[in-house]
Amino acid sequence: MSAPQIRPATLQDDEALTELDRSTWSPLHAVTPEPQPPFPPFFDSGHVPEDYLVAEVGIEGAEDRMAGYIRVARPSPHATQAHVRQIQGLAVYEWARGRGVARALLRAAAVHARNQGARRLTLRVLGHNTAARSLYESEGFAVEGIMPEEFCRDGQYIDDVFMALSLTDRTG
Ligand SMILES: CC(C)(COP(=O)(O)OP(=O)(O)OC[C@H]1O[C@@H](n2cnc3c(N)ncnc32)[C@H](O)[C@@H]1OP(=O)(O)O)[C@@H](O)C(=O)NCCC(=O)NCCS
Repeated sequence: MSAPQIRPATLQDDEALTELDRSTWSPLHAVTPEPQPPFPPFFDSGHVPEDYLVAEVGIEGAEDRMAGYIRVARPSPHATQAHVRQIQGLAVYEWARGRGVARALLRAAAVHARNQGARRLTLRVLGHNTAARSLYESEGFAVEGIMPEEFCRDGQYIDDVFMALSLTDRTG
């Protein structure tokens, strides 16, 4: 597998992103029910291609394949929060995991946010998602708050962890 190439998403990615999102769903990171057919379009008025970056990898003897995506959006439309971007989705196919795809997406997201003038990049991650938390910590995100037992699935309470990265003190 080649090193991931990161590019902005386009409307043509709808089908591939729907499949990626569907097949990577897990209770480890999702707070919504598992998607069931018929699957709605990936993009809609609240989920626009401009807020997504996708990772493609080359596999010997085959066409490049989409391996993952990240969503970097404004947390609110308010002018008072225009300096903040938030990671609102990150997923990598199981077959592509452990090879730096998510790290490349996260770094590209930070550059993307900084290029839009953002000073802060924030996210929320479930307390039990150790893989994602380890990734974020290794990229410099710090825990700014924890909402204890914010979710409950199958009788198990799960913390919601709020993390952030300052975009003003790194050159990235
Ligand atoms: C979390 C996820 C995005 C990681 O994707 P990935 O491409 O495998 O991650 P990378 O290969 O870039 O790994 C980067 C770092 O993440 C951490 N990490 C990744 N997988 C890990 C695992 N299974 N256990 C512990 N740490 C892990 C490590 O710190 C790793 O660095 P290292 O390889 O130097 O040890 C992927 O497992 C996934 O799609 N999970 C389901 C969706 C999800 O949880 N999204 C996050 C929502 S907040």
